[in-house]
Amino acid sequence: MAKATARRSPPTTIESSRDRERLKTVVFPEHSDLAARVAERIVEVIQRETQAKGKVVLGLATGSTPLGVYEELIRLHQAGDVDFSHVITFNLDEYYPMSPDSPHSYHRYMWENFFAHVNIAKHNVHIPEGVTPRERVTDACAAYEAAIRAAGGIDFQLLGIGKTGHVGFNEPGSDAASRTRIVTLDTLTRKDAAADFFGVENVPREAITMGVATILDAKEIALLATGEHKAGIVARAVEGDISTDVAATFLQRHPSVTCYLDLPAAAELTRIKTPWILEGIDWTPAMVERAVVWLAERSTKAVLKLSAREYAENQLSPLLARAGSAGPINGQVFNRLREKIRGRAKLPAHERVLVFSPHPDDDVISMGGILRKLWENENQMVVLDTSAVQRARATVNAGMEQKAPGEIDIPVVQNLKKFIRESEAIAALAAVGIPASSARFLDLPFYQTGEVRKRPLSEEDIAIVLRLIDETRPDLVFVAGDLSDPHGTHRTCKAAVEAALARYQGGKPEVWLYRGAWQEWSLTEADVLVPLSQDELHAKILAIFRHQSQKDTAPFPGYDEREFWQRVEARNLETAARADRLGLPEYYAMEAYVIQRV
Ligand code: F6R
Repeated sequence: MAKATARRSPPTTIESSRDRERLKTVVFPEHSDLAARVAERIVEVIQRETQAKGKVVLGLATGSTPLGVYEELIRLHQAGDVDFSHVITFNLDEYYPMSPDSPHSYHRYMWENFFAHVNIAKHNVHIPEGVTPRERVTDACAAYEAAIRAAGGIDFQLLGIGKTGHVGFNEPGSDAASRTRIVTLDTLTRKDAAADFFGVENVPREAITMGVATILDAKEIALLATGEHKAGIVARAVEGDISTDVAATFLQRHPSVTCYLDLPAAAELTRIKTPWILEGIDWTPAMVERAVVWLAERSTKAVLKLSAREYAENQLSPLLARAGSAGPINGQVFNRLREKIRGRAKLPAHERVLVFSPHPDDDVISMGGILRKLWENENQMVVLDTSAVQRARATVNAGMEQKAPGEIDIPVVQNLKKFIRESEAIAALAAVGIPASSARFLDLPFYQTGEVRKRPLSEEDIAIVLRLIDETRPDLVFVAGDLSDPHGTHRTCKAAVEAALARYQGGKPEVWLYRGAWQEWSLTEADVLVPLSQDELHAKILAIFRHQSQKDTAPFPGYDEREFWQRVEARNLETAARADRLGLPEYYAMEAYVIQRV
């Protein structure tokens, strides 16, 4: 077997105090570094164990989190760097009941995303069976445990974490001694899976999962989490007390666990969220701003009214000591925040503006307000929708009657949906004043699976985006900077634009990131705050209404059952209200943008 080649320089990780952390945690600012590091570690374990005992046993997970790891392992295998012929695998779980051929089965997931692309022997693959008759499930679970023992135990266990804190499907209430068994899925877990199943009612109620004790028996464990939607539960698992309420906390009892996190998933860890509590830190202006806004919100006071006492009582004496008194720090932060507010007069005018919208409605949802202002400022606007096909639920009934939820539509239905979504996108842009001639539809290949899960980014995607950038020569580019998009479409779209811009020979445009439909940038993260009047917010909401096929039930509600327009209204009002509470001018509503630093 070939040795793993030294391929890339070591990934950058964030090193800082881990006083509060009860699990070894590595934070990667670059999302792609995380998958590469974990895959590298798996290859090391495969080589070490196969050399030592002629085989290696891996515990594997499904879900969106490990996909990058599987892609990287496939790449390393194809490069001749890793051999899977002596690898034995045990998957954590499977829905119950679930046919292995179903598009939702973890059998199919594992073969399509990993096993079919490497030289693993079929008889070495073990995945709990979702078709075992109920009366035989207990025996099948005991046999699964026995098979793990017979293989010599798991050398390396890969884990994701669910919003309930589950590892495998060990939902709240699972105890430390639990073994492979049938479990009832938590409501939150089923809601999280609803998008993949096209409706929570289609998500199975049960699953077969390895137990907490089965997982803790593994010699080494890697817990992976990516995306801001995992931040809360990750902090609970890493910094909280061990409890049956959160199965992942039991990992704290294991001697060899590493949590691999991207920055959004690590955002609620104390060392990332409020690092000034832990140690002496580098007081950059951005860090001072974060600390002072935190202090103001904590003390429910306007920034300019914070006193030395508040600084001292909230562990910010070191910051106070640097300036001597509260006044200058308050003033510095107030001015920074005030300068972010940019009404129409302070926004670009007479420039070429390119807007990338991963889905047809992301543009108006996230930036309906600024779109209108940029148009009024006589910028040349091109708005690009990068998707080809979307769910036009409740709109296309013809041809769909025989289709099971989640199955791929026949081409004619896909085209019809595409037509509907494109017409809606044009109508929505018109509602914020932008003509149909500004709208373009890219049909990027990565998007064209007809399924919720998309393909990885390809050279073809990048080439299409680059052609458009060459053609439009933008001064300003808007991209969705959302990192919690459940299916990674926003992330892939951003990666396509970044790769294309890196190759673009013309003058580099400024890149502004808008947040996706689910969240908003905080005041301290944002570089630009765009105030909206009541009428402007109303016009933006009317534009969102033009996406009629997405109305009444949001296709990806997660735990939030509000429609997109309701979330937009709440988030734009809240951003303005927060600014107001900090003592900034009182606006009706606000959008927020981050300027990407290169
Ligand atoms: C999957 C599994 C689950 C997932 C978890 C996170 O086999 O056991 O615990 O790891 O639900 O799912 P994603 O990665 O989709 O967020």
